[in-house]
Amino acid sequence: MTQEQEEILKGVHDLAREQFVMILSDECEAVLRDIFAKYRPQRVLEIGAAIGYSSSIMALSSDCEIDTIEKDEERIERAKDLWRRLGIEDKIKVYHGESDMLLPSVIKGKTYDFVFIDAAKSAYKRQLELLLPYIAKGGVVLCDDVLYLGLVKGDSYPPHKHRTIVRNMRDFLAYVEDNESLELQLIEQGNGIAVIKKL
Ligand SMILES: C[S@@+](CC[C@H](N)C(=O)[O-])C[C@H]1O[C@@H](n2cnc3c(N)ncnc32)[C@H](O)[C@@H]1O
Repeated sequence: MTQEQEEILKGVHDLAREQFVMILSDECEAVLRDIFAKYRPQRVLEIGAAIGYSSSIMALSSDCEIDTIEKDEERIERAKDLWRRLGIEDKIKVYHGESDMLLPSVIKGKTYDFVFIDAAKSAYKRQLELLLPYIAKGGVVLCDDVLYLGLVKGDSYPPHKHRTIVRNMRDFLAYVEDNESLELQLIEQGNGIAVIKKL
């Protein structure tokens, strides 16, 4: 990544924080950069492109092709503009629509060595189950916000308004822990980051 590209990304990061536009947490970004430095994935899937910040980091950190899904058209336009400014538009294919609708056709016939699940939290488990056959052995799945406000760990009864999401995240983490073909590293930074390796 060139100095100029880093500066463009810093500008987008700072503006997103100022405008409360959703991009990954700084802690998750550090983990993402670390994974890309170590494994240099080549076939990447992202669910939740938003304005293209995390996909830009991935595209600039490895010689990879990225499929990314986003339901918000305005965010996709901002993402495309960013990818053009960074000169990486040819590395990223964006699919516009609901991830549950699009996923089966996007992943058909493909094998990914890195997946970033970063959209609907209630869908993490369902999407990982669907994706498993399309992830290479040794492939890595990254999920942000899995400890949701610190309410997920333990078995305490969460406040009513957070109950569904906490239950979903507990189910998701239990599913990963119980699956013998998966290895979970839970990083208790930010809102909780799951790094899942397919064995
Ligand atoms: C946390 S943001 C993604 C941030 C991005 N990965 C980054 O770090 O730059 C989540 C995005 O997922 C999108 N999203 C949420 N639910 C979705 C769904 N069911 N299908 C497609 N996109 C969805 C939202 O519109 C939002 O832009």
